[in-house]
Amino acid sequence: MKLARLRRLCRHGTLTQLAVFEAVARHGSITRAAEEMCLAQPTVSLQMKKLAEGVGAPLLEPGNRGLRLTDAGREVYAACEDVFARLTEMQDRVSDLQTRPPTTLRIAASSTAKYLMPRLLGAFWQSNPAVRIVLDVMNRARLITRLHSGADDFYVFSNPPEDKSLKLHRLTPNPLCFFARRDNPLAMRPRIPLSEIVAQPFIMREAGSGTRLAAEQLFAEHRVEPRACIELGSNEAVKQGLLAGLGVSLLSRHAIGSETDRADLVELEVEGMPLRRHWYLAYPANRELGEMEKAFIDHATRWTYDSRPELSEMRRSA
Ligand code: PGA
Repeated sequence: MKLARLRRLCRHGTLTQLAVFEAVARHGSITRAAEEMCLAQPTVSLQMKKLAEGVGAPLLEPGNRGLRLTDAGREVYAACEDVFARLTEMQDRVSDLQTRPPTTLRIAASSTAKYLMPRLLGAFWQSNPAVRIVLDVMNRARLITRLHSGADDFYVFSNPPEDKSLKLHRLTPNPLCFFARRDNPLAMRPRIPLSEIVAQPFIMREAGSGTRLAAEQLFAEHRVEPRACIELGSNEAVKQGLLAGLGVSLLSRHAIGSETDRADLVELEVEGMPLRRHWYLAYPANRELGEMEKAFIDHATRWTYDSRPELSEMRRSA
């Protein structure tokens, strides 16, 4: 029942009418309220008529000095004060939300970045434990689609798209190198020319990955092409391919981080390698950043990758 009456009121009365009514009641005058609200006098009179119709009772009557409130008018005036106070409070809270640091940091990163992002984020989290961190990982092509959806606060690429509307911050280096199993005939050779690499069976990351793009760009630049390729859909699958002795591959040095991998795989000493890439933090240049986001950029741009942080910690404290 209450809802039906409220709907009837909303159909005939509006917030603007209440605001006009509040000014008329305060001044006791349609003319002065019209001046204050920069409205024509007939517009103010019409709004007052409509509001009275909506409420179902006259709200104003002639008094000694201008207009005065009827009993119904006093009720509407009290309601106006409540409504406007509540709306002001709502507006204050919303502005507060916009200026307060967000408590969730959403990051989407390319698949190879998963080897470093937990460490980079972990170091930030230790000094900002109240921040909830969400990291999502996907290959470069999917990351670009995700970037356009705007679902995250930051995007981490090694090979960011060329897009002037993006702000980029350069992060720690991302060296790309050729790897093979320890028993590969090239394993112990110094200064291997690229022509010998492409003569080997080559394990290629999937189309859409940044790692594949880097390999294709390198081969195109040197006008060479691998003799035979097998395509495997992730860094982990490529590593398994290398361990199975399927051939050689180009990977980020970060992807071969663990001691077990290092024991069985070797970085080939190829001329002109490694490819000296970097990681980048990307976000839309027109986005307003909160204090927490600025602190994160500061942390990320200072942070450097160490594949064995726990050992270097021990070395430092020894
Ligand atoms: P990838 O991308 O993990 O898809 O190979 C690396 C990059 O960001 O270029």
